[in-house]
Amino acid sequence: MNPRLDGKVMVVTGGASGFGAATARLAVAEGARVVLADVQDERGHEIAEELGEGARYVHCDVSQEADVAGVVDRALEAFGQLDCMFNNAGIVGARGPIDEIPLEEYEFTVGILQRSVFLGMKHAARVMKPMRSGVILSTTSCVGLRGGLGPHVYATCKAAIVGLTRNVAAELGAWGIRVNAIAPGKHATPMFADAAFGDPGAVGNTDVFMKMSPLRGRFGTAEDIAEAAVWLTSDGAGFVSGVTLSVDGGLIAGTPEGAEPGHGLYAGHEPLIREGGRRGMQ
Ligand SMILES: NC(=O)c1ccc[n+]([C@@H]2O[C@H](COP(=O)([O-])OP(=O)(O)OC[C@H]3O[C@@H](n4cnc5c(N)ncnc54)[C@H](O)[C@@H]3O)[C@@H](O)[C@H]2O)c1
Repeated sequence: MNPRLDGKVMVVTGGASGFGAATARLAVAEGARVVLADVQDERGHEIAEELGEGARYVHCDVSQEADVAGVVDRALEAFGQLDCMFNNAGIVGARGPIDEIPLEEYEFTVGILQRSVFLGMKHAARVMKPMRSGVILSTTSCVGLRGGLGPHVYATCKAAIVGLTRNVAAELGAWGIRVNAIAPGKHATPMFADAAFGDPGAVGNTDVFMKMSPLRGRFGTAEDIAEAAVWLTSDGAGFVSGVTLSVDGGLIAGTPEGAEPGHGLYAGHEPLIREGGRRGMQ
């Protein structure tokens, strides 16, 4: 079978860790060339070296337009084209009660989580429109799809990415460009381990991740997001645009975390009580 991304060129922001690093590794294994963009230069260079000739690392602060424009240009310079822009870098950012969040923390967080995606879409479109093809992916989150799951500013930015994805897909379909988002749940990456347990190293604490998983027998990994990103970039997803694909083990659909089989609503069985006449039943 042919590699799924044979000949394609992909930019991955946040490529030095978590979802970005896993996606870069899988994309290269599937025949792509990748440009990793991040602010963690040492780790970024290490991963690019590990991936060999088909990979480059570029320092890029995704909240800065010149940096994002620069990474797109670097992909063209190094590999001659851009087939996929994956806007994935992120932080948790401002936390706390709504009446206590300082404006400057709000603005800093929006810069990294939301302005970055706008900039990634803008500069990818600049080079993809003349090609009449391309794929733009962005990482949103389950917290952007339902209230009460995460910090206010983080959740707001992630919800904005869902809206931007739909809207930009509606514009760029006419240019042959597909625009989609991925909404992870709770995955074992340094960011989630840090947010949940105050320690990025807790990423290896598989027991805890297993207990909070909605899907029995496994928990969310960085590789799960890499699989979704590679599929959405591939021609196999060639008619998929404007969607937010949840990759969360069923969390946002309502699957409780760590529940036993036959739990809650599904415990036991009561015979159906027919309410003659009232619902049209005899
Ligand atoms: N891990 C989860 O459970 C989870 C769930 C939902 C959404 N997400 C989202 O997935 C994306 C990736 O997160 P991850 O879990 O892989 O975390 P991670 O911390 O492992 O990776 C995030 C990467 O983004 C980089 N980054 C941070 N600020 C940057 C900036 N200004 N410019 C460039 N790069 C920057 C970091 O250096 C890091 O390498 C983020 O957008 C995050 O919000 C993660």
